[in-house]
Amino acid sequence: MKGKWIYIVASILFVVLWIMTSSEFALKQPSTWQRLAEPGQLSAAHAHLENNCAACHTSVTGIQTSKCIVCHANNESLLQRQPTSFHASISSCKECHLEHQGRGKRATSMDHVMLAKIGLRQLKDDDINSELMTWSKLWVPPHANITPDEVVLNCATCHSNDDQHFQLFGQDCAQCHATDKWTIAEFRHPSPNSMDCAQCHQAPPSHYMMHFKMISARVAGRPHARVDQCFQCHQTTSWNDILGAGWYKHH
Ligand code: HEC
Ligand code: HEC
Ligand code: HEC
Ligand code: HEC
Ligand code: HEC
Ligand code: HEC
Ligand code: HEC
Repeated sequence: MKGKWIYIVASILFVVLWIMTSSEFALKQPSTWQRLAEPGQLSAAHAHLENNCAACHTSVTGIQTSKCIVCHANNESLLQRQPTSFHASISSCKECHLEHQGRGKRATSMDHVMLAKIGLRQLKDDDINSELMTWSKLWVPPHANITPDEVVLNCATCHSNDDQHFQLFGQDCAQCHATDKWTIAEFRHPSPNSMDCAQCHQAPPSHYMMHFKMISARVAGRPHARVDQCFQCHQTTSWNDILGAGWYKHH
């Protein structure tokens, strides 16, 4: 007899729990149980959704990209800025916009590895998404600075506007750069006595105008120097630290 009752109670509990966990209703009306289930508070920007789990979640498939897009389509500044314009075609959000990390934590972190993984997935799912192809390429030689996953990324599609080298170093940023920061710890600048400055540096447009002979060459006291002989007038400390003439103040 006792065993039978335990069986009935357990069955009822099971059904109640099943309804609570699996119904769309439960997600729309967060109960105390759900609060316990929430892994952590939402970010400050989404605090207003604390009572609306279903804004982002579905009971069956988890986080749904389409739900994020409902509220975030047409973010002009995001779509227009070169590094973030990929938002127009990305098929997943949660990888870089982690939630439930608490009010103090911004829900954004750029993850290039995840970016590459989503990109590859999209290439397989869509029959070649042409927009994605612009920032994904299928094969490049191994790079020491980036992970094997990141190798498929075409850095320049998103970062050519960040290029400090006037394209003198080419488009393959990952040949020299990693994805966490642009500075390179091992980099030692060539000696100020080098005469190869123009290999790595491009003069500003003003150097190819009247301004060069009229002002720059005079300020430097080098009337006969050619534009490509940067070393005649410049040092490696700063472009405004003119050799022999000291700090050049504009205007
Ligand atoms: C602004 C969107 C948003 C809202 C609103 C939201 N969540 Fe989430 N939640 C997320 C994201 C993003 C993740 C991370 C998913 C992942 O890593 O797979 C997540 C993960 C979770 C997880 C971990 C399991 C899983 O699906 O990955 C649980 C449990 C969860 N949320 C519960 C809740 C509850 C309960 C609420 C309502 C109180 C809620 N969430 C409201 C965005 C949201
Ligand atoms: C019901 C509408 C709604 C949904 C659904 C929603 N958001 Fe938001 N989100 C907002 C609002 C409102 C803000 C704050 C104002 C703003 O920055 O647009 C915000 C802010 C953000 C921010 C900026 C965060 C910050 O700290 O500046 C990001 C990133 C973001 N949401 C991503 C997502 C992602 C990813 C999802 C899906 C998991 C999602 N949102 C779902 C309405 C929503
Ligand atoms: C590969 C990483 C990555 C993925 C995937 C991703 N984002 Fe972003 N998102 C970013 C980065 C990086 C920023 C820029 C944050 C900044 O400017 O500080 C950003 C910014 C945003 C912002 C603007 C935040 C603000 O401060 O105004 C919103 C909204 C947003 N993303 C929504 C989404 C949505 C919706 C999806 C899915 C369709 C998505 N993101 C997918 C990395 C990602
Ligand atoms: C689809 C676009 C996209 C691609 C492709 C991409 N990045 Fe990024 N990258 C971003 C975004 C977005 C950020 C976040 C900073 C921002 O919003 O400008 C970022 C940040 C960075 C940063 C850190 C910048 C800083 O000051 O914090 C470095 C370094 C970087 N990327 C290098 C690379 C390299 C190297 C590659 C190629 C292997 C690459 N990225 C490919 C979009 C991209
Ligand atoms: C041949 C190697 C090489 C290539 C290729 C290259 N860079 Fe660099 N880059 C460097 C070196 C070296 C530095 C100086 C690093 C330092 O001072 O720590 C640098 C510095 C930078 C900086 C400034 C870092 C800082 O904060 O001072 C940015 C931004 C940058 N590179 C972007 C790019 C982008 C974008 C690309 C691809 C379009 C690229 N680079 C390609 C070698 C390279
Ligand atoms: C092998 C390549 C290379 C050579 C050769 C080279 N540089 Fe550089 N230089 C760099 C890189 C990379 C950076 C850091 C990124 C940047 O600002 O372009 C840099 C930075 C600088 C800066 C600092 C710019 C700033 O605003 O912070 C000055 C000034 C400079 N170089 C001057 C010179 C001069 C003068 C010569 C010749 C005597 C020279 N460089 C030769 C690669 C080189
Ligand atoms: C004959 C002397 C001379 C030569 C050669 C020369 N410069 Fe300059 N440059 C100057 C002087 C003087 C200034 C500061 C006043 C000015 O803008 O004319 C300057 C300014 C600059 C600036 C700062 C511009 C700004 O707007 O802040 C850069 C960058 C620069 N030069 C790069 C180069 C590079 C790269 C080369 C070689 C390819 C080069 N220069 C060759 C004399 C020279």
